[in-house]
Amino acid sequence: MNRQIFLIICSSLLLSASAEFIAIPYGSCGEGFEDLSCTIESVTVQECDIIEKKFCELIRGESYQMNMTFIPQFEGSDLSLKAYAIINGKELPFEEMNSKACDYMECPIKKGVQQDYVFNVNVDMLKPRGKFNVRWLMKQGNENRCCFTNKFKIA
Ligand SMILES: *[C@@H]1O[C@H](CO)[C@@H](O)[C@H](O)[C@H]1NC(C)=O
Repeated sequence: MNRQIFLIICSSLLLSASAEFIAIPYGSCGEGFEDLSCTIESVTVQECDIIEKKFCELIRGESYQMNMTFIPQFEGSDLSLKAYAIINGKELPFEEMNSKACDYMECPIKKGVQQDYVFNVNVDMLKPRGKFNVRWLMKQGNENRCCFTNKFKIA
């Protein structure tokens, strides 16, 4: 076998063995979050099963890597990212999540430069079972800057 072809086969086997990042459906945060300065390019979750093209199913007790790719129209180093489950109209923050965004990106982030924000979602943080929306909100200081929502099903 040609050495190059052999290398290509080996590397594709390695890729399929490592857990894949799956693009998940997401939307904007709606009312109260219109005035943001950020474009979300993609959101992927490692080994997420997408059900009915609508939501990502996660298993309790597992941990998943999530990758939010965005282009900020702002700069800064005072960044936080917090997540809230929205259940019966109430916001339940993911209290155990490390919200210090600069732990996961090189700060200060620069205007117009794409950022990959890769962090762990520990499904113990999402205590209730069932389907619900989650809001992901990044702030620079006290200003809302990036936001998206998605739906998870916790099994
Ligand atoms: C995160 O997503 C971006 C855009 O799809 C990609 O370029 C980057 O390699 C991803 N990072 C990881 C760790 O998967």
